[in-house]
Amino acid sequence: MRDATPAQTDETVYLKDYAPVPVTVTHVDLHVRLDPRATEVSARLTCKRQGPGEMVLNGEQLEMVALRLDGKDLPADRYTLTDKTLTLHDAPDAFLLETVARISPETNKALEGLYMSNGMYCTQCEAEGFRRITWMLDRPDVMATYDVEIEADLPVLLSNGDEVAPGKWHDPWPKPTYLFALVAGNLVAASDRFTTMEGREVALNVWVRPGDEGRTGYALDALKRSMAWDEQVYGRAYDLSVFNIVAVDDFNMGAMENKGLNVFNSKYVLASPETATDTDYALIEGIVAHEYFHNWTGNRITCRDWFQLCLKEGLTVFRDQQFSADMRSAAVQRIGDVLQLRARQFREDAGPLAHPVRPESFVEINNFYTATVYEKGAEVIGMLRRLVGPDGYQAGCDLYFERHDGQACTIEDWLKCFEDATGRDLSQFALWYSQAGTPRVTVEESWEDGVWRATLRQVVPDTPGQTDKIPMTIPVAWGLLDADGAELRPTEVFELSEAEGVIEVETASRPVLSVLRGFSAPVILEHDQSDADRLVLLAHDTDPFNRWEAGRALAKARLVAMVAEGTAPDAPWLEAIAKLARDETADPAFRALALALPSEDDLAQTLHVGGIVPDPDAIHAAREAAGLAIAQALASDLGELRRAMRVTGPYDANAEDAGKRALDAVLLRLATRLDGGDAARAAYGAADNMTDRMAAFTCLLEAGDPSVAKAFEEDWKHDRLVMDKWFAAQVMHSAPDRAVGIATGLTRRDDFDAANPNRFRSVIGALTAGNPAGFHQKDGSGYRFLADWLLKMDAMNPQMAARMSTAFDTWRRYDADRQDLIRAQLDRIAGESISRDLAEMVGRMRG
Ligand code: ARG
Ligand code: ZN
Repeated sequence: MRDATPAQTDETVYLKDYAPVPVTVTHVDLHVRLDPRATEVSARLTCKRQGPGEMVLNGEQLEMVALRLDGKDLPADRYTLTDKTLTLHDAPDAFLLETVARISPETNKALEGLYMSNGMYCTQCEAEGFRRITWMLDRPDVMATYDVEIEADLPVLLSNGDEVAPGKWHDPWPKPTYLFALVAGNLVAASDRFTTMEGREVALNVWVRPGDEGRTGYALDALKRSMAWDEQVYGRAYDLSVFNIVAVDDFNMGAMENKGLNVFNSKYVLASPETATDTDYALIEGIVAHEYFHNWTGNRITCRDWFQLCLKEGLTVFRDQQFSADMRSAAVQRIGDVLQLRARQFREDAGPLAHPVRPESFVEINNFYTATVYEKGAEVIGMLRRLVGPDGYQAGCDLYFERHDGQACTIEDWLKCFEDATGRDLSQFALWYSQAGTPRVTVEESWEDGVWRATLRQVVPDTPGQTDKIPMTIPVAWGLLDADGAELRPTEVFELSEAEGVIEVETASRPVLSVLRGFSAPVILEHDQSDADRLVLLAHDTDPFNRWEAGRALAKARLVAMVAEGTAPDAPWLEAIAKLARDETADPAFRALALALPSEDDLAQTLHVGGIVPDPDAIHAAREAAGLAIAQALASDLGELRRAMRVTGPYDANAEDAGKRALDAVLLRLATRLDGGDAARAAYGAADNMTDRMAAFTCLLEAGDPSVAKAFEEDWKHDRLVMDKWFAAQVMHSAPDRAVGIATGLTRRDDFDAANPNRFRSVIGALTAGNPAGFHQKDGSGYRFLADWLLKMDAMNPQMAARMSTAFDTWRRYDADRQDLIRAQLDRIAGESISRDLAEMVGRMRG
């Protein structure tokens, strides 16, 4: 494998250059006097030499007030201060370094380091935000204990660890800077308790702004279930006397696992039946679990350097997916996870931003909190578990926790635990961490003289900077059915570890192959299966994932033909769909997923891979036509099917009720295609929860009802999180030729605050990700709109701008005119004076 890293600059950091620090910090004593424009941070660092060399501390956007070593002011010739570093010359073997820094949280709109949100102070330090609070070795392999004292005239003062006196916190667990947190404000808590399996009494608090207390119940409950689950399934107990969660309105990402003090985007904490949808509830459950699980996979055992990010993220995503599967339907969870993986990670892996699960270089680490590191990273753990089996997996995890507790580790450390626990050689498997790109696996079947044979071939595609890749270990779960759908061979795992492999079975009749069951590996499968076989699988496969997948393959084939050849949906397919919709033996949530058509972006990628230039308008039109055909096929049943999905009693977010509501929403959308919105108007009026209300609302938007947006706004203008949905829905559910105009209009409203990431995403992100045909309008208006906003945002919040810029990463799929239009916008952005964050992304996309 050749490896040349693209877009190298002198700011590029390389994995191969890793070296431990010559002088480390073992304890941090912080005194923080909060003030909006002049916060004073006094730090006392206990430093210890562990090798030769100068001590280089990180520090950015700090004003130096004092600098002392062992109690004495440091003379100017003993240090060098730049806008990024503080270098100590001839530091002794052990010493106390004292600094006083002045910072301005109120003007910090990057939302990194210490900032303000609605009058409260909060921090975000991962990945490299601590250096905007004080001078420190801001890297994950430096682990220190902390004492923090917060001074402010505010009722609630929080930091990591246990509170030893009002506003004074002690964290006994050594941690890297990125896990530091501080929160201060006028907050109220919803509280509960948990007793760990070790007998520790833990106080649980969810801190919110006054008025939001009534929306904390679900998050608290999810937290308790997460704590119990991690004890039962991984044997991991919590290790402090308090666990705090804080909801913050202005937050760049979803949430953050700071030790003992998780900080959340309020969108992923606050929920009530009136304001949150079933999807919101499921996300809250999953994200609360994710951050809690980090306490062991991330905090107790952390990453040696940021290249190892997947060590904590891939594993923790895998754990939260396991948890959600246990709390809900495992099949539905798996289908949802795979839909996400394909929509975000396969897309990333197929374009100019492709990178390995463990990258080997970066300019700005925040640009690598990606679907590849997180979601593909989780798939790699899932494959490992399949290869070593559940017992081997548990033994490997137990060894990992025992061997590495308190350490900053690498992927090699992780894999070694599984090699030692199971005796299996994982050197080839490790290629999943270093080779980027989604492998393609082709399957060719034959049946002759009573022998059925499947030949599997793998190719790992070239990606930026990587060519000529080596075959990987791919666990392929498979089974056989007969032509009537009866099981011939239950699931087995075939390990495809070379370019080609063959499965052979003696059988008197031609079997139907069900391959890649449970989506056992993150690969693109090319299996030329007949419609007849797919229909057998859709009706009878014992593997629910592959039942769904067979339906999806059928739908995709139709839609591709509709776009490429102008065909109409055929009767046998429509009958199969209608049968599934009516199948009362199947879980409603599963039926809802099976009735949903592949997304426009998924179809664009499929066409592109098939050598056809995707036309976003044609894709949109084909999906509309297919939806209408399904609606007509089901027309006479829609009313009755919907009645069967009616949920009685008060709203409950449980998976069963949510499944009924999900299927009802799909059916309502079909009904709207036939009745112009009559059923949706009735549903909107009758809705007593946000799930049903949003379903009806989006149908009415699609039906072009002019009054519904006003009515919704009147009801909800006081509620920030609900209004985010209102903004997003109008952009996502408008006709493509109106989407940019609607988005532009929304950005001109007084309540459009671009500095709030949720609001920004609910308009700009809703266009780029939620209305592809609108974003890709051939006059280039969508591209110009995005580029204008990226430049505006970059001046405020570079991380946000860089993330949003990935909307351009599919540009090479499209026709020459669209390519020119996008290229022109990328060039325009690159020509301005922009952040390192955005420059790296635009540079990689321009190629
Ligand atoms: N570690 C957090 C999580 O996965 C994500 C925080 C990322 N923040 C960032 N600025 N890159 O839960
Ligand atoms: Zn995480």
